Amino acid sequence: MAPLLEVRDLAKRYRATDALRGVSLRVEGASLVGLLGPNGAGKSTLVKICCGLVHPTSGEVRVAGHAPGTPEACAAIGYLAELFRFPPWLSADEVLRLHQELAGSRGGAEERSALLELVGLGYAAGRRVGEMSKGMQQRLGIAQALIGSPPLLLLDEPTSALDPAGRRDVRDLLVELRARGTSVLLNSHLLSEVELVCDRVVIIDAGRVVAEGDPGRLARAGGVEIETASGIRHFPDAGRDDIPGLVARLVAEGERVYEVRQVRSTLEDVYLEVVTPQEGR
Ligand SMILES: Nc1ncnc2c1ncn2[C@@H]1O[C@H](COP(=O)(O)OP(=O)(O)O)[C@@H](O)[C@H]1O
Ligand SMILES: [Mg+2]
Repeated sequence: MAPLLEVRDLAKRYRATDALRGVSLRVEGASLVGLLGPNGAGKSTLVKICCGLVHPTSGEVRVAGHAPGTPEACAAIGYLAELFRFPPWLSADEVLRLHQELAGSRGGAEERSALLELVGLGYAAGRRVGEMSKGMQQRLGIAQALIGSPPLLLLDEPTSALDPAGRRDVRDLLVELRARGTSVLLNSHLLSEVELVCDRVVIIDAGRVVAEGDPGRLARAGGVEIETASGIRHFPDAGRDDIPGLVARLVAEGERVYEVRQVRSTLEDVYLEVVTPQEGR
């Protein structure tokens, strides 16, 4: 079976700007993939190309084996743009009804209430968008993207405008979606707990993939720190298995040991290491 999303050597040039310079990535199985990178890295451009909204300069994209923009590819994708705005006078239920019409879904009231329930808005079907918090609007946006049960969701900065509680809600929702068999590619310029639930992260910078892997492995171990009476001693190449030997040696040398810590670089450390700092970001 073709992967849900296959991007090969994708490049996009807008007049004088190279937004993408040869990006390859794949999404398959029910997985959460985080596409991370600073503002201007090319994340939105990539997602828009996958939706058929922007034409690439070169390279290839296949959505469930189909070219972007074809009816088959569109049916396989649910998309939520970065700066979406639903009409403030529509209720949650009306927003979904409008999008069912746009997507040609025949799911009717049953699909709408199941989606509102799924995103935790079952109690707010009649609430107007203008009277919803940002977090509620974001969850409504995700419900909209799920109309027609597409196997792949493309979410552009789904948590950037949210407070920590809103981010947690979206994170829990993404985990729930994965459990139901949906794959998600989410763009983000922020590192938060949401990225930490991803099965894989792809970090892009200036149109290129600069790091890729599972977040736990990218955030690799960074040695051992031992606090002694004479100060903190660093053993940058040591791992967990070296700790008993190190402590025994220090004690044998007459040191008093107070605390031992394994140092881990976080995903944020890795991100800052691979992303080039630039003025005005
Ligand atoms: N329609 C456009 N016309 C010209 N330049 C664009 C257009 N869209 C994006 N860009 C430029 O392409 C680069 C990548 O933008 P974008 O894909 O929006 O990045 P990100 O989503 O990672 O912030 C940026 O330098 C941006 O200014
Ligand atoms: Mg963007």
